[in-house]
Amino acid sequence: MKKRFLCTFQQLKENSPNLFPIPQHPGVVVFKNGEEVAVYENRCPHAGAPLDAARFHKGVITCLWHGWKFRFPSGICMTDDTPALRKIPVEIQENYVFIMLEEAPEKHPDDDH
Ligand code: FES
Repeated sequence: MKKRFLCTFQQLKENSPNLFPIPQHPGVVVFKNGEEVAVYENRCPHAGAPLDAARFHKGVITCLWHGWKFRFPSGICMTDDTPALRKIPVEIQENYVFIMLEEAPEKHPDDDH
């Protein structure tokens, strides 16, 4: 796991998705409700819609593709028994928001052969 700086707490918009693109990764989307923050992989577990287009209202994240609903901050699906949103560990230190990301496996020189 690699600790990565994301933004300051004040930079996060309230009650709407905050997208952070990450190279070699679907990106992460941050939802903030008051002092509470949750970070998820930017991909709906149903069919892969980007969550930065989701709606966030009264603690419920609604995917725009098919309307499935997920509970904030757990990411548990309220529509089906589908897997929950993939949470990314987040740490807030002082005013700074950090995430813990798994590092992509290093490519071995022999992989191309
Ligand atoms: S892709 Fe999100 S509800 Fe279908």
